[in-house]
Amino acid sequence: MSHPKPFVIAIDGPSASGKGVTSRRLAAMLGLLTVDTGAMYRTLAWHCLRMKVDVNDDKKVVALCRKWKTSLVVAEGHVRLLVDGYYPAQEIRTSEASAAVAHVAQIRVVRDWMKAKQRECIQFGSLVMEGRDIGSNIFPETDYKFFLDASPEVRKLRREREGVKEDVHARDKRDSSRAHSPLMPSLGALIVDNSHHTVQETCDLMLQEINKRRKANGLKPLKAAA
Ligand code: C5P
Repeated sequence: MSHPKPFVIAIDGPSASGKGVTSRRLAAMLGLLTVDTGAMYRTLAWHCLRMKVDVNDDKKVVALCRKWKTSLVVAEGHVRLLVDGYYPAQEIRTSEASAAVAHVAQIRVVRDWMKAKQRECIQFGSLVMEGRDIGSNIFPETDYKFFLDASPEVRKLRREREGVKEDVHARDKRDSSRAHSPLMPSLGALIVDNSHHTVQETCDLMLQEINKRRKANGLKPLKAAA
């Protein structure tokens, strides 16, 4: 029996648009793996901080990125990037790492490196991958593309509830205006404003859209686990 070809559900959007929680719920419903590509960029930012590399010095960041020792593993349903065998779960969420990440993410060589790693994730199976350029640049060939958004007020409130003190607006601005694969809805992405939707409502709507697109291609619908 031939195995079905692995596929990718691409979820892009600005900070606090609900990408993380939505990806995890959708992946759990469908039995897929998640990939948090923001965590990969955050890991490089954290690695720069601990190696005392100035994130504004593109050449030094590139040199570090070229020689760091990483591996991809699957743990608890997520594909993770490890550095020297370690996943810095807490360290990448600090305000220092958050302030540094958009600097390393605008460097072309870094983005090329990340693209290669992110495409490698498909070796583990079908994925729900979230980020800023998944539909436009990482897996542009996928039929399942979503751009999540929410009003600035709702996004600010979500971050406050998480206890995160950060100017996410400044980070979004940097992400949207950079030269290499900026944050924007990709061609063919369904834009979902989830300001007033629950996570489950958003996932149901996405699954409906995925199955509409599968039907148009003569594919069997995906079924949510009961
Ligand atoms: O999603 P998260 O807020 O963790 O992403 C952190 C940062 O990583 C973003 O603000 C952006 O600068 C960068 N990023 C990116 N492309 C992605 C994912 C994240 O540039 N695909």
